[in-house]
Amino acid sequence: MLFALLLCHYIIPLKIFIDLAIFYPELFLTNDMRKITDTITTFDTYMKIFEKKKDLIQYLDNFRSSKRDPSLSAEKKKKSIGYAQDKSIGFVPTMGALHSGHLALVERAKKENDLVVSSIFVNPTQFNNKEDLKKYPRTLEADIKKLEAVKCDILFSPGEKEMYPPEDMDNDLVIDFNGLDTVLEGKFRPGHFKGVTTVVAKLFNIVQPDIAYLGQKDAQQALIIKKMVLDLNMGL
Ligand code: PAF
Repeated sequence: MLFALLLCHYIIPLKIFIDLAIFYPELFLTNDMRKITDTITTFDTYMKIFEKKKDLIQYLDNFRSSKRDPSLSAEKKKKSIGYAQDKSIGFVPTMGALHSGHLALVERAKKENDLVVSSIFVNPTQFNNKEDLKKYPRTLEADIKKLEAVKCDILFSPGEKEMYPPEDMDNDLVIDFNGLDTVLEGKFRPGHFKGVTTVVAKLFNIVQPDIAYLGQKDAQQALIIKKMVLDLNMGL
């Protein structure tokens, strides 16, 4: 009788509880714990993912200094072309919705550099049509898998406030491209290249890559960015 009582009241419920905990652990998480495990599941990848520029900058600084050969004198460093003894960082900026063209750039960057950073940021300032910005595909999870497949080392995936802090919004700095940005595509998308160059300059300053890789499909964009890099001595 006592055994039947124990069985019904303690042993069977305990067994059910243990089985549920083993097979459905998520049932026992509080909302806060669930948020944390969701983040881990989503971001538990080979690739490191950064959302904050300060964290990425710190990581890349550490990477650069850890890879620098301390035995080389400053004199020797100057002589070696492009400080070749420092490990190089390749950068592939994107707005996500990745396709084979983007992945080919990452693969090439992998071959030519020691570390590859890609960014995914749907840049609002380069959309002159707000509807286009709303409709732009946002496929972060699928993009992460694609970048992992080509062994991208780092993804920078900032939010809008990270790239355009509200306190900086009245910053009206404009680079004059002497008309290069208002012809061809620029004629139909006023302000587009201003937005592109603004965000690319910000990204270059954060990542400080040795080489940046951009699709040649957008030839005008590639040309304008090249000009910005040269004119502003960005050194990549
Ligand atoms: O070509 C693109 O995807 C974008 O214009 C770029 C260069 C990532 C800037 O937002």
